[in-house]
Amino acid sequence: MGSTKNVFASKIGAILAAAGSAVGLGNVWRFPTEVGANGGAAFILIYVLSMLILGVPIMVTEFAIGRHGGEDVTHAFQKMSGGKRGWRWMGLLPMVSGFLVLSYYAVVAGWTLYYLFEALMNGFAGKSPDEFTNDFVAFSSDTWQPIFWMGIIIAMTCAIVALGVQKGIERSAKVMMPQLFFFILVLVGCSLTLPNAGLGLSFLFSPDFSKVTGSVVLSAMGQAFFSLSVGIGCLCTYACYFRKDVDLMKDSFSVAGIDTLVALLSGLIIFPAVYSIPGLSPDAGPSLVFITLPNVFQQVFGGIPWLAYVFSLIFYLLLVLAALTSSISMLEMSVAYFHKNLHLSRPVAAVIVSLVCLALGIFCSLSFGDWSEVKMFGLNFFDFFDFLVAKFIMPVGGMVMCIFLGWVVDERVLRAELTNNGTLRSPLYSTYRFIIRYIAPLCILLIFAHELGLAWLDWL
Ligand code: PHE
Repeated sequence: MGSTKNVFASKIGAILAAAGSAVGLGNVWRFPTEVGANGGAAFILIYVLSMLILGVPIMVTEFAIGRHGGEDVTHAFQKMSGGKRGWRWMGLLPMVSGFLVLSYYAVVAGWTLYYLFEALMNGFAGKSPDEFTNDFVAFSSDTWQPIFWMGIIIAMTCAIVALGVQKGIERSAKVMMPQLFFFILVLVGCSLTLPNAGLGLSFLFSPDFSKVTGSVVLSAMGQAFFSLSVGIGCLCTYACYFRKDVDLMKDSFSVAGIDTLVALLSGLIIFPAVYSIPGLSPDAGPSLVFITLPNVFQQVFGGIPWLAYVFSLIFYLLLVLAALTSSISMLEMSVAYFHKNLHLSRPVAAVIVSLVCLALGIFCSLSFGDWSEVKMFGLNFFDFFDFLVAKFIMPVGGMVMCIFLGWVVDERVLRAELTNNGTLRSPLYSTYRFIIRYIAPLCILLIFAHELGLAWLDWL
């Protein structure tokens, strides 16, 4: 077994690693897609509210459970419950979720890597709008190509996780996160100078409440969960590596703040770009960043080819970085379990978990082509995994964790963990406790009942 300690060496390393997990394709790809599909600014307002009422409190909850567990997420629940054996089963949550979430996330991450490669080879130059559409469909429904690129993403993730908590996860977050911010700012700057950028801004910032329906509210809450990586034990796993002097409440606000900022900035890159060409629509769905945007880059910068080249390159580099910092946290969830419980070395655990994810990922990748007709409960593999994680495990996991900390754990243990044994004032402690005891479980129950009701109706 490796001799490096399983602890983030610095406070900033801890924040950046957690922010790296949160900031991902959920921000740069899923957020603009959802905003576009759900009518813009009104959706964003509800999303920010969901972050504050559900996202941040559940993040604090995960941090508290994880750090109390100290280096071993699998026994963290049992330890915090004061030794109640039934809670040890919750230790399986991150392990199982890690496999599920990485297996489908890596498919889209693989697409981003392929698009980065295309951008690097100047493969977008001179393509017509139809060619962009046809090429994306041909690529994503191909049998081997997407699997190949997914394999590379998984291999990169595996190499970083195998290096360990400090040398792999923390160091990569410290290198990649500042680059990510830099690229975002450059792209926002360019995007805002495009013709008609104002139309994109008003789509993003002037709310039209007539568009708000029950399903818009549900989508906003679902997006908040996914984007913050909460409810599946991912942040619990990272918090096991936090030092005892980290202020868990303050850090939760920092991470949620960074995550929301990146999502909004991604909107500032994407919507002005979409509106810069008449006839393109902001609700193009998941293909927005793979069809609409490369097309936009060619058309608006077409007169200055090197600018189109650089803009595309930076954009896909940004997507790959965002995807990687998140996939690292996903792999770590399962690797931590195998490392601790089966006493495998980190590299061996990382390789085994990666291979299983690759195998499951193949099923998800083929959902876009050869196996698009193979269905489970009416969904193809990719959509089924996404449904299972984002619409089922995340809300239920989040609710169980709130009930656990709000009702099962001795209040003194919780208070000691959040105030670092009384050394911090934590003025929001009582509000937080009220939310996790009453508000969050109730809200989640409502979302969940509604989602399940809809799915059930669909199924009938
Ligand atoms: N939050 C990540 C994103 O926005 C996705 C994620 C989900 C990461 C669950 C880890 C765990 O892309």
